[in-house]
Amino acid sequence: MKVAAALSALGLIVSAQVAAAAAVAAVHPADWPHVTPALPADPRLEARIAALLARMTPAEKVGQLIQADIGSITPDDLSHYPLGSVLNGGNVAPNDDKLASPREWLALADRFYAASTARAGRGVIPVMWATDAVHGHNNIPGATLFPHNIGLGAARDPALVRRIGAITALEVRVTGLDWTFAPTLAVVRDARWGRTYESYSGNPRLVAAYAAAMVEGLQGRPGRPEFLDAAHVVATAKHFLGDGGTGGHDEGDNSASEAELREVDAAGHIAAIAAGVQTMMASFSSWRGVKMHGNRALLTDVLRGRFGFDGVLIGDWNGHEQLPGCRAASCAAAIDAGVDVLMAPSEWRELFDNTLAQVQRGEISATRLDEAVGRVLRVKLRAHLDAEGPPSVRRFAGHFELLGSPVHRALARQAVRESLVLLKNRGSLLPLSPRMRVLVAGEGADNVRQQCGGWTIDWQGTMPSADIRPAESIYAGIRAAVTAAGGSAQLSPSGEFSVRPDVAFVVFGEQPYAEGAGDVPSLALHDQQDLALMRHLKAEGIAVVAVLLSGRPLWIDAELAAADAFIAAWLPGAEGGGVADVVFRAVDGSLSHDFRGRLPLPWPRAPAGDGAPATPRFPFGYGLRYGK
Ligand code: BGC
Ligand code: BGC
Repeated sequence: MKVAAALSALGLIVSAQVAAAAAVAAVHPADWPHVTPALPADPRLEARIAALLARMTPAEKVGQLIQADIGSITPDDLSHYPLGSVLNGGNVAPNDDKLASPREWLALADRFYAASTARAGRGVIPVMWATDAVHGHNNIPGATLFPHNIGLGAARDPALVRRIGAITALEVRVTGLDWTFAPTLAVVRDARWGRTYESYSGNPRLVAAYAAAMVEGLQGRPGRPEFLDAAHVVATAKHFLGDGGTGGHDEGDNSASEAELREVDAAGHIAAIAAGVQTMMASFSSWRGVKMHGNRALLTDVLRGRFGFDGVLIGDWNGHEQLPGCRAASCAAAIDAGVDVLMAPSEWRELFDNTLAQVQRGEISATRLDEAVGRVLRVKLRAHLDAEGPPSVRRFAGHFELLGSPVHRALARQAVRESLVLLKNRGSLLPLSPRMRVLVAGEGADNVRQQCGGWTIDWQGTMPSADIRPAESIYAGIRAAVTAAGGSAQLSPSGEFSVRPDVAFVVFGEQPYAEGAGDVPSLALHDQQDLALMRHLKAEGIAVVAVLLSGRPLWIDAELAAADAFIAAWLPGAEGGGVADVVFRAVDGSLSHDFRGRLPLPWPRAPAGDGAPATPRFPFGYGLRYGK
């Protein structure tokens, strides 16, 4: 309204629509809360930053603001282009080999480090390497793979999430990397969004509790010696702001009111900042038509002015190119709006040259440049990068036995157990005696790839199960449990059997996806085969336990009706044995583990809709127990 009035006062003719858009997108920073800083002001640290800045050339400064992908930069490139950080995108690994060994990752980290510190003289600050360790150190063969976030949301266990963060950090440290692009703090409202499984929940309080726990697990608690020590890594709260409210469209538009944006979308970010998160990532999405990478009011006035965030705001993968007037290779507007580091996977060279020219021409002010570089230096010094030495000499580096160690896998298995949500249990079919003859059917029965979903070795989760190790499929876990007790297990994805089983599991659901590739127009599951199989088994008089593998709640009324018991298992990751732990009694007949998962989102009673249907099939928080 104010904008429209001002424009008409100036005699400008604008369409009502444009004026309305400008008016509704206004941000009122004074309405946003102040966040108590996690770390007190540190004059010694600030003096060191100022001293470093004073010694750096404009090119060295610009280098700190650009992040390249290891798929298109070599360590040698750093001698001409002193970039401050690199990442490995979801499809990229050392030596162009997705199955490169952890040793190769560490060796490449050493080479980048050496190149970044070889530059003679002033302003030598080691490079940082960031990775998407989003359900464990998931790009690394051999690492522990935890359930994706949506399953952790079902577990309602912040202490578990904190331990997962700590173990993930340790495994990242084994390979010499410094930084993870996690946690995702999207508050998902529409499960048709392909990133639903990266969100903990549609409930802002749950997301906030987990944000603090995961950030502290990854980084250590601020103010204690453990903070960013050799067992911890820099975390990233992503994606700021509003990614979970885009109506099910990845990188889409969030049309929430400013109050909803603040109270729902920002809840996790506020908690992460209070917990000391050192970096945040701008969202690909827009708010009321304005792309977040260019939203100065939110990225600067709110994030800095109200939340007091003093770390690094990084852009997303070429996210800056979506701003009007920008390209992947040039975007002063994003830096001006408040993005400190531009993620420029492949066009980093041109971006470096263009950004340096913009600095020299004053299009990026010296003040803004020093502010952004200062934030990068602050994070690097807090992370002890100046003192730690090469990646391979750091305390846990090269301890490859820690990757997927028995202790770490046991925690992942516990997380699987806790994340399972029991939606139906007709006649108390579960828990079962482990002495039974069990059939394990369905496409997902012995399918580690399907259990793990996207962001597993590669971006979309395309690797064959055999390449995801160590791992246990759901079938393998069931077989181990029943054979130990004197029962038997038969694997048959198609459901045919030679020996008539006492009970049949049908494991089915979604195939892996990531980001926009996982956007769907409706929540229907197009899997007639496994439904037919359940009906067939029922007709034979065999009790059916359905296990759904999915990154989101789905409209599965027909399967619910066909099955005697129904478990939403989300994307449990590599430790499928967690399912057997809960569905079978111990050999002596006692209960080993009860279900404890509760829905992190409402479950739909119709295929489409806005993800939070007025009358859900099952409400948020639903989940059956044996104990009740
Ligand atoms: C995703 C981010 C991720 C980045 C680097 C982007 O496409 O949106 O969440 O951290 O890629 O892989
Ligand atoms: C990369 C991901 C990234 C995505 C962005 C992929 O090629 O591997 O890390 O998130 O592109 O579109």
